Amino acid sequence: MGLLKLVTPFLALASAAQAKSLADRVGKGHGLSEHAQNLFDYSMEVSDSRYDSSYNYVWYQDNGQWSVRFTAWYIAGLLHRNKCNDVKAAIAAIENVLANQLTSDFDSAWYGTFKLAPDEPDPTPNGPLYPPSIYGSYDPNWREFVGTQLIQIVEEFEHVLPPALTARIEDALEAAAVGGMRRNGSYPEGDNLILGYSNPAIMRALTTGWIGKRKGNKVLTDFAWEQGKELLELFQRGGQDVLSEYNAPNYYGIDIWALAANIAYGPADAPMTKNSKVILTELWKDIAAHYNPYLGNMVGPYDRAYSRDANTHSQILSMIMWGIYGRGTFGQPPLGEGDLLYDIAQGAALAMVMDVIAPTITKQAEEIVTSKGKWEGSRFINKTVWEELTSDEPRQITSWLSAELMIGGQKVAETKNRGNQYVPAIVQWAADPNHKPYPYMGFFTLYPSASTLTAEATENRLVVSYPDTTQPGTNIFTFGLTGIPPSYTLGNKHIIDGLEELPCLNVNVTAPGLVKQDVVYGSTIRNHWIYNVSYVVPEDFSGVPTVTLDMEYTC
Ligand SMILES: *[C@@H]1O[C@H](CO)[C@@H](O)[C@H](O)[C@H]1NC(C)=O
Ligand SMILES: *[C@@H]1O[C@H](CO)[C@@H](O)[C@H](O)[C@H]1NC(C)=O
Ligand SMILES: *[C@@H]1O[C@H](CO)[C@@H](O)[C@H](O)[C@H]1NC(C)=O
Ligand SMILES: *[C@@H]1O[C@H](CO)[C@@H](O)[C@H](O)[C@H]1NC(C)=O
Repeated sequence: MGLLKLVTPFLALASAAQAKSLADRVGKGHGLSEHAQNLFDYSMEVSDSRYDSSYNYVWYQDNGQWSVRFTAWYIAGLLHRNKCNDVKAAIAAIENVLANQLTSDFDSAWYGTFKLAPDEPDPTPNGPLYPPSIYGSYDPNWREFVGTQLIQIVEEFEHVLPPALTARIEDALEAAAVGGMRRNGSYPEGDNLILGYSNPAIMRALTTGWIGKRKGNKVLTDFAWEQGKELLELFQRGGQDVLSEYNAPNYYGIDIWALAANIAYGPADAPMTKNSKVILTELWKDIAAHYNPYLGNMVGPYDRAYSRDANTHSQILSMIMWGIYGRGTFGQPPLGEGDLLYDIAQGAALAMVMDVIAPTITKQAEEIVTSKGKWEGSRFINKTVWEELTSDEPRQITSWLSAELMIGGQKVAETKNRGNQYVPAIVQWAADPNHKPYPYMGFFTLYPSASTLTAEATENRLVVSYPDTTQPGTNIFTFGLTGIPPSYTLGNKHIIDGLEELPCLNVNVTAPGLVKQDVVYGSTIRNHWIYNVSYVVPEDFSGVPTVTLDMEYTC
């Protein structure tokens, strides 16, 4: 466990939040702080409302009618609450989770992972019923999502579980670790778990190390020890202190879970147990550097984002802030918001490690992430991000933020498109400063049609260009614009016809040789309804197509 040993350094670093005796917490279903309890209660309220107590699964469509992962997350909550039938239901639900592990084909890419839904078929490599498809008909990361959850369940609640059940959880975790350890980014075919795929990589360091230690399986512990060292090395490469899945408001929440679970539950002598504390402390500093207390959002660019606005759609990081400081802190979506009803499934399990997370937030970081309102001046961030220890084409990240306007861009040269979660360039501003509790935020974001692009943010300026026009997708710059306050367009008071004149923002667009298209409304980027503002690069264009945006906040 290593928790006793960690008590002293934790207290030395402790911020105002609950740095209570960690030695007391494990194995006793420890108490929660007021805010963690509040997060826990809401999570349980939502999960209770969709629990199928007949089958002992959480109803939620995930390739089928019930969600195995939501069920796993709920188990920790049931065991902690421990009222009425909770423990009985939890044990039945654990049986269900174990029954959903795919173990019949040892050599398959899905060996040891868990099904998304109990009613989906197993992948069928030799038939059309359900052909294997990574992140489609199976999710290799469920080994880590479900696996870390099972570890928390054993660490916190072993005393209420039948010993034979604990032994079977251990066997399941060993199969998951064996399957998970094989993944190296190119094997099994189509795999993408490189060191820089931060969230599953950090979780895998725990799943392999924890069960390796518990079972005395040296192959697993060797792997976990090596990964633990390399994850820190990659984080610290070039003195950058960055996760390679950089500035991802949703996955930062998972990273924080993964790091906290390593700290709380990892073997005392595993490098990742110690390294997680170093990474988590630095991660908070980086989050604080990006956080704009006036807009209640982190400046972009985002390596991965489902939501680009913490106040309209859930980001898991917001749930962490809720559990530590309360729901009034940081950007928070409305309680009934659809993505929150998804993310909150994990809230109860997260609530139980808030006491591990809180002391890793330095005073200075805490001051920024808990503050509100207008602030003076501006900040600039410039970071270099590598995907691997040996890769030599880093991405260059620039962000500029002031209270009312913030801009982010990154320079990337890749051949595979990162898809629409990728936000390589974004401008966010207070489109309605009178909205409460935060201004209503407008933003426009470059649709990543090209996989090689250069976007650079500086004071009041974003420059985007395509240095390699041989790549597909470099024939168009598309900006998805959203966050227009309701009063702006109602009654046709204003018609959006470009980026030039926006509520509270003037933009000078310089796009030499490019052809502006008619603006079209009605499509979405992830969760956001957008105006599509596009500039086409004509066939006969020569040189590097470039769009320069000079901005002035006008409210
Ligand atoms: C990944 O694993 C496969 C199978 O073990 C191996 O052939 C390949 O060289 C490995 N690739 C990397 C990048 O380590
Ligand atoms: C960011 O840092 C990189 C690497 O040091 C440098 O080349 C680039 O000019 C910097 N960008 C800005 C806008 O300062
Ligand atoms: C945006 O509009 C352009 C046409 O101007 C179209 O080619 C492109 O597919 C649209 N992009 C999105 C994301 O809807
Ligand atoms: C935009 O261009 C106009 C005309 O050249 C200039 O007066 C104005 O200051 C520019 N605004 C910004 C934000 O660069």
